[in-house]
Formats: sequence, structure tokens, C-alpha cells
Amino acid sequence: MSEPFAMRLERLAREAFDELAAACDLAALEAWRVRFLGKSGRLTEELKRIGTLGPEERPLAGAEVNQIKGRLEAALGARRESLAAAARETQLAAEAVDVTLPGRGRGLGGLHPLTQALRRIEDIFAAMGFDWAEGPEVEDEFHNFEALNIPAHHPARAMHDTFYLAEGGLLRTHTSTVQIRFMRHHAPPFRIIAPGRVYRADALDPTHSPVFHQVEGLVVGEGIHMGHLKATLKRFLEGFFEQALSLRLRPSYFPFTEPSAEVDIGCLLCGGKGCRVCKGTGYIEVLGCGLVHPEVLARIGIDPERDSGFAFGMGVERLLMLKDGVPDVRLFYENDLRFLRSLR
Ligand code: FA5
Ligand code: MG
Repeated sequence: MSEPFAMRLERLAREAFDELAAACDLAALEAWRVRFLGKSGRLTEELKRIGTLGPEERPLAGAEVNQIKGRLEAALGARRESLAAAARETQLAAEAVDVTLPGRGRGLGGLHPLTQALRRIEDIFAAMGFDWAEGPEVEDEFHNFEALNIPAHHPARAMHDTFYLAEGGLLRTHTSTVQIRFMRHHAPPFRIIAPGRVYRADALDPTHSPVFHQVEGLVVGEGIHMGHLKATLKRFLEGFFEQALSLRLRPSYFPFTEPSAEVDIGCLLCGGKGCRVCKGTGYIEVLGCGLVHPEVLARIGIDPERDSGFAFGMGVERLLMLKDGVPDVRLFYENDLRFLRSLR
């Protein structure tokens, strides 16, 4: 009688170990445990069967079943451990980080070169005690022309190809409009700059854009003269171009300044010897300026017998083109990242 029992146990143990080796995840392990060691599992059934054996067979059979039960439980524990370790390995491999790879960077973007240039210009003038003023881009004839001594039919109007708006008014053609707006509400002495966008119906070409930026300057007080103007512009231009410059004030004409001048700087490309950029002259024009016309001051209620002033207006794109060797003003508006990054 004991022979078949022992043999059956032996076969059961072999099957159990084989199936355990084949169980490849935790769910399969649990199914295996229920199948062999559970309440109505096969080994438990054998345990129950011991009661049907003769009294002399029972102790040996009981000991055998318990011994096999112990080995199966130990094997189950070991298998569980090794499956968990394998799962950990797989997870670690999947989440592996190669610390030797180069970083990816964040692509933070940056300020447009014109914005950077405007901020630099503002900083240089702020260091000389200038305040900051602004005015609207949609203007009227009074502020853009008349108050600046440019009456209707004045030939100077033809130099400003103006965008007129259907509903009346116009797009300002220069930032000199802010001179008038500021002087109406402030008594001298003062010094301001007024940066901003201006519009002219100019055809787009390498040096002309229908929308561009100017920075206006205005200083009014007792005893202001051309010497102050030249010193201020020299300090600004040398700060902006970060080098010593030779300045040339060339007599010119603006209806709202008297005397008027255009400022040339020694050509940065050829060092004054003469090249294609300066058209062989050794100098390049960078801005217009002059002493504020007494007529303009008087009309706005400032006594020209007591106060005098100077003003200047510069094209920001042109300054930046000179400084960074940008060959075409259109590059500022096309937003080609290769160009924008090259000016960082
Ligand atoms: C004026 O606009 C005067 N208001 C400047 C001024 C202010 C004179 C105060 C005296 C006192 P002008 O038209 O020359 O001047 O323009 C000034 C600068 O703007 C030029 O030197 C040039 O650098 C720039 N500029 C003019 N037209 C364009 C354009 N279409 N595109 C880009 N820059 C331009
Ligand atoms: Mg000009």
C-alpha cells in the first residue's frame, strides 16, 4: 500500500518543480501555489488522504508529505525572489540614463537685436541724465509738421512720404513729434530721449524700410549751445560703437532746427581711407540734429530769449547695420533665426 502513495508523491513533486521552473511571472507563481499548496491543492489532498492509510503507514507518509511541502515552499520563495530581481533589472535597464551624453538645452529664445539696441541706447543716455518720453504712432498734422515749422506746401513735406489715414490723421514720419508733445507739458530745463517706431511710404530697399525706429533727443535749458550737442553725441556714439570715433558735423537743413547739421562718423569699415560703403568719402552719416528753432520754442510757450535747446534724431536700424555690419535693413524684419542668432 505504501508503494503507490510514495510513488505518487514522488511524481507530484517532480511535476511541481517542473511547473515552478516554467512559471515566468508573479501571476503564474500564485496560480502554481494555489494548484499545489492551496486549500484544495494537490499536496493538501495527499495530506487528507493519510487518514485512509493503515496506522503503521501514517507516520512515514505524514513525514514525507511534510518534507515535500517544505521543499516546495522553499522553492516557491526562491523563485519569487529571482523573478522580482529580474523585474528590477528590466526596469533599471529601461530607465537607464547615460550620464556621458551631452545635455539637451532649453532653447530660451532671446530679445530681438533691435530691442537690444534700443535698450543699449536708452542705457547710455540714462547714464547722461536723460529721461524717457513717448508719443503716439498715429499722429496729426500739427504735431508731425506744423508745430515743427513745416507748414502745408513746405517742400520738406515732400521728403517725408507720409501715410495718411482714411479716417483722418497720419502715421508719424519721425519721432520729432514727441518734442512738441513733451514741451507742451514740461517747463525747461529738461533732457529726454523718445525712442519709437516711425512710418514712411519709402520703397523697401537695402537701406530703407516703410517702418523703422528712431530715437529722438531733446535738451532745453539756459545757455544750451552746439558744444553741448556735439559733446553729447560724441559720448553717445562712442558708447554705442564701443570705440573712439572722429565726428563731423556737416551743415544741413531741418525746418525745426537752426543751425542744422548731419553727423558723420569716420567709416568703421575702412578706417577713413575711403571704401564702397562710405562711397570713397571716409565718412558715414548717422543722424540729423541742430539747435531747436526759436520759432518752435516760442510757439509752444518757451521764451527763446531765455532758453535754448538742441535736438537730434537717429535711425536705429542704420546705426545697428553699421555697428554689426548688417548689409540689409530687411534682415531685421524677416525673423530668420540664423540672422537673429548671429547678432546675439
Ligand atoms: C528726421 O527724421 C528728423 N526728424 C531728425 C532730426 C531730429 C533732425 C531732431 C533734427 C533734430 P531724417 O528724415 O533724415 O530726419 O531721418 C533720420 C534718420 O532716420 C536717417 O538718418 C536714417 O538713419 C533713418 N531713416 C530715414 N528713412 C529711413 C528708412 N526708410 N528706413 C530706415 N531708416 C531710415
Ligand atoms: Mg537724412
